[in-house]
Amino acid sequence: MADNATKPLRIAIAGLGTVGAGVIRLLDTNGALIAARAGRAIEVVAVSARDRGKDRGVDIARFAWEDDMIALARRDDVDVVVELVGGSDGPALALSRAALSGGKGLVTANKAMIAHHGLELAEMAEAANAALKFEAAVAGGIPVIKGLREGTSANVITKVYGILNGTCNYILSEMEATGADFAAVLAEAQRLGYAEADPAFDIEGVDAGQKLSILAAIGFGTRIDFPGVRISGITAVRAADIAQADALGFVIRLIGEADVEETSQGPRLLQRVRPCLVAKGHPLSAVDGPTNAVVAEGNFSGRLLFQGPGAGDGPTASAVAADLIDIARDEVGAPFSIPVANLAALPPAEPGHRTERTYLRFMVKDRPGVLAELTAAMRDGDVSIESLIQQGRSSGGGEVMVAMVTHEGREANVTRALGLLEGSGSLTAAPLVLPILPR
Ligand SMILES: NC(=O)c1ccc[n+]([C@@H]2O[C@H](COP(=O)([O-])OP(=O)(O)OC[C@H]3O[C@@H](n4cnc5c(N)ncnc54)[C@H](OP(=O)(O)O)[C@@H]3O)[C@@H](O)[C@H]2O)c1
Repeated sequence: MADNATKPLRIAIAGLGTVGAGVIRLLDTNGALIAARAGRAIEVVAVSARDRGKDRGVDIARFAWEDDMIALARRDDVDVVVELVGGSDGPALALSRAALSGGKGLVTANKAMIAHHGLELAEMAEAANAALKFEAAVAGGIPVIKGLREGTSANVITKVYGILNGTCNYILSEMEATGADFAAVLAEAQRLGYAEADPAFDIEGVDAGQKLSILAAIGFGTRIDFPGVRISGITAVRAADIAQADALGFVIRLIGEADVEETSQGPRLLQRVRPCLVAKGHPLSAVDGPTNAVVAEGNFSGRLLFQGPGAGDGPTASAVAADLIDIARDEVGAPFSIPVANLAALPPAEPGHRTERTYLRFMVKDRPGVLAELTAAMRDGDVSIESLIQQGRSSGGGEVMVAMVTHEGREANVTRALGLLEGSGSLTAAPLVLPILPR
C-alpha cells in the first residue's frame, strides 16, 4: 500500500476507438489533477487495436504497441488492463479473462460482456484479489454504478428504472419534435452518429436490457439475469402514437424498470424494457435527445435521479477514468458490491397480476362493426376503458387508427383481451400496448 502511493498506476488500453482515444485525451488533459486526486499518476504504458497506422487524433507513438491485445495482459509493466473493444465474447472476453486470471485489474465499458459474463469475471477478480470496474458500461458519463454501489449502499433499493438507451431516446424525442415517422428519424440519427449502422441492439431494446440487468444486480444484490429481462423495443411506435400521446398529455420513452417482488413462493426479480407513456411533468418526460436518466428508490434515501450524457467519448472516458482513480486509491471491493457467492439467485417475476393503466393502439379496417369488436374484446377481457379515440376516417374503406387508454387494471386482463382479437380480420397490424408510467 505504502509502495503504491509513490508509484504510478500503469495501464494498458485495448481498443482505441471513440472511448479508447477519449480516455487518452482525458488523461493527457487532466493528468495533473487526476494524479493529485488519485494520490499518484495514472500512466498509459501500452495500447492495442486492429490498425496500428490509423490516425486517432491522439499521439500513440509514445506507448508500447501490441498487435495481439492479449499480450497486454501478460506485460509485467502493466497493473490494470482497460478493455474498450466491445462485444460480449470474442477478444474482449479473452483479454478480460487473461487480465484477471493474471491478477491484473480490469476496467471495461462493455455492457454486453458484463451482462453475459459479469459474474464469472467478478468471481475471477475476487479470487485474484484484483479490481473489476465497469462504471462506463451503464449510462456513459453518469456515475450510476457508483451511486448504487457506494452512495446508496446503506439502503434497501426498492426500484430502479429509467432511460438507458440514448439512441432510442433521441429517436423518440425527434419524432415528438418533428412529427416524422420512425424510419426517417432513424436514418437521420444514423447520419448524425446517434445510431449505429446496425441499430438493432439499440432500437429493439437489447442494449437497455443489458444495462438494466447490471443495475438490478448492483441495486438489489442479485445475480445478473440478462436472459430474464422482458424486452420490447421502439420499432412499432408510429408518429401517430406520439401525436396521440401528446394530445393525452404524455410523451413516449423507452423505459427499463426493475424491482424485487415478495411473493408467497419467495422473492422474484422483475426486469423489463418497454416503451411507456410518461406524463408531461414527470422528471423522465423532460429527458430529451441522447440523454440518459436513472431513478433509484432507496428506503432511506428516497427517490434519487441520476441524469446526463449516456454516451460519447468525453462522458464515457470520464467514467473509465473515475474507475482508474478508484483503483489508484486502492478503493476496490466486490465488483457487484456483494461477493458473487452471496448474491441472491432470484427467479423472474410474473407480472400478470400487477396493475397499470395502458395505452392501446389498433390499426383496423375502416368498416362498420370494428369498434364494437374491439370494445367487446375489452369487456370480455375485463379491461375497463377510460377513453377511446378514433382518428379521422380514411377515404375508401382503408385503415384507421383506434387508440384507447384503460383504467388501472391487471396486466393479464389486457393480454387476455388482446388474445381474443388474435386472428381477427379487422386488424391490419399487431396492436401496440404501451403502459403508462406511474408518477
Ligand atoms: N461510444 C460510446 O459512446 C460508448 C458509451 C458507453 C460504452 N461504450 C462501450 O465502449 C466499448 C468501445 O466502444 P467504442 O464506441 O469506443 O467502439 P469503437 O469506436 O468501435 O472502437 C473499438 C476499438 O476496438 C478495436 N478493435 C475492435 N476489434 C478488435 C480486435 N479484434 N482486436 C483488436 N482491436 C480491436 C478497434 O480497432 P481499430 O480502431 O484499429 O479498428 C477500435 O479501436 C464498447 O464496449 C461499447 O459498448 C461505448
